[in-house]
Amino acid sequence: MENTERLQNVSVLGAAGKMGSGILLLTALELADLSLKPENKDKTFILNAIDVSDAGLSGLMKYLQGQFIKAAEKKTVQLRGMYENRDELIENYDIINQYVFDVMNIIRPTTKMEVAYNSTLVFEAIIENPDVKVKLLSQIDQNNHHKPWYFTNTSSIPITQLDSAANLGGRILGVHFYNPPAVQKLVEVIKGKETREDLNEFALGLIKSMRKKAVPSNDFAGFIGNGHFMRDALHGINEAKKLAKESSWVEGVYTINKVTQDYLVRPMGIFQLIDYVGVEVCSYIMSVMNPHVKDEDLHSDVLDQLIVQGVLGGQYSSGAQKDGILKYEKGRPVAVWDLDRKDYIYFTDFQDACDAKLGKMPSTFMPWKAVNFNRSKAAILETYFNDLNGMNSLGANIAKTYNSRSNEIGKKLVADSVAHSEADVNTVMLTGFFHAYGPINEYLK
Ligand SMILES: NC(=O)c1ccc[n+]([C@@H]2O[C@H](COP(=O)([O-])OP(=O)(O)OC[C@H]3O[C@@H](n4cnc5c(N)ncnc54)[C@H](O)[C@@H]3O)[C@@H](O)[C@H]2O)c1
Repeated sequence: MENTERLQNVSVLGAAGKMGSGILLLTALELADLSLKPENKDKTFILNAIDVSDAGLSGLMKYLQGQFIKAAEKKTVQLRGMYENRDELIENYDIINQYVFDVMNIIRPTTKMEVAYNSTLVFEAIIENPDVKVKLLSQIDQNNHHKPWYFTNTSSIPITQLDSAANLGGRILGVHFYNPPAVQKLVEVIKGKETREDLNEFALGLIKSMRKKAVPSNDFAGFIGNGHFMRDALHGINEAKKLAKESSWVEGVYTINKVTQDYLVRPMGIFQLIDYVGVEVCSYIMSVMNPHVKDEDLHSDVLDQLIVQGVLGGQYSSGAQKDGILKYEKGRPVAVWDLDRKDYIYFTDFQDACDAKLGKMPSTFMPWKAVNFNRSKAAILETYFNDLNGMNSLGANIAKTYNSRSNEIGKKLVADSVAHSEADVNTVMLTGFFHAYGPINEYLK
């Protein structure tokens, strides 16, 4: 089957979800551009947006309309070329309206899974539960005579496991977008043992056309991104616990969050990142990964306790951060959840004492935002970390230990053949987590 033919009937499962909505947006724009090519003018392109939530689908359509207007506004010159034979489209807004109509026209929102029985490509982005994923994939495959190809957005389940449990005969590939898919450049691509090479090639072409960066990962639970993030998060939790012995849990969390954001020049602290992804999601990903790892226990009793206490983080559909380990006001952390008092304690109650214990930051410190997009990033980081290396404060020492653990995790991902190379590990953390530098670095000694 030709690639264009394969893209004529696509289904996205879990289309109303955080990841599914972004994947649907990117796929819709691809299909619209294909459908507007002169050689495809007699072909129909269908993109089924499938989800169990009716309300979610209706919110999705509103979200998409706004996004398509933005996308059309950004490429009016290109669209003029695409619509050059449409003399009636004169003003920019004529072109924008037509494009939005054409993209929306491709999308069929539905709660009926059966529409996927006609698809030639199925993109699965439903909840991270192996049993639910396998049941849905095998139901579609048993009823679909096209022998469709499947992409799965799973964050942690081995592709080989999904392939064999759903009996897909190698017609499945991990295509792991990062959150939010429309913004994040990285896509991890994971072949299972039996995955067909032509499916892999097809995916790489599509990812390139979406202007994303594909990084191959081996089929090991958690892959590269979560393989690093989950271990990095556990290290952060353990460091906070150590500090809590001398002070309190809230002070430990505040301190480690500050060191991981400021001292390590990251876009957000480790506890804010756990909240961003969601406390339950992190705990669940660890539980899926844990049976597949040797010599380590990817599990956190603190996360269990937070879940029992209903402290979950995650995001509202508007993208705003929900309260979790940290409490947020205007998007910024302002308090830490106290596990004993079962309430938030504001930073203002203990921040000055914690900062004093950490010691002074080097005078060459610049926040992540000022460093990451700076043309002199490498030189700035080198000077800053040189200064930090020369310090013996609590903050500098926690940062050094943290960096060396991150480094060790990165190298182990290569040694365990999860990543093909150290460069791939660094690319994943730079493009999927927006780190300013990769975990395998020479900065902190
Ligand atoms: N959130 C992240 O940061 C992130 C990043 C990368 C990958 N992922 C992976 O993407 C997948 C989706 O995660 P998410 O965060 O978007 O979850 P989500 O909860 O936001 O979305 C899941 C969607 O699937 C729908 N759904 C549930 N069961 C369904 C079924 N049987 N049929 C059809 N729709 C169903 C839900 O209604 C929901 O809209 C998971 O596998 C997750 O591991 C998540």
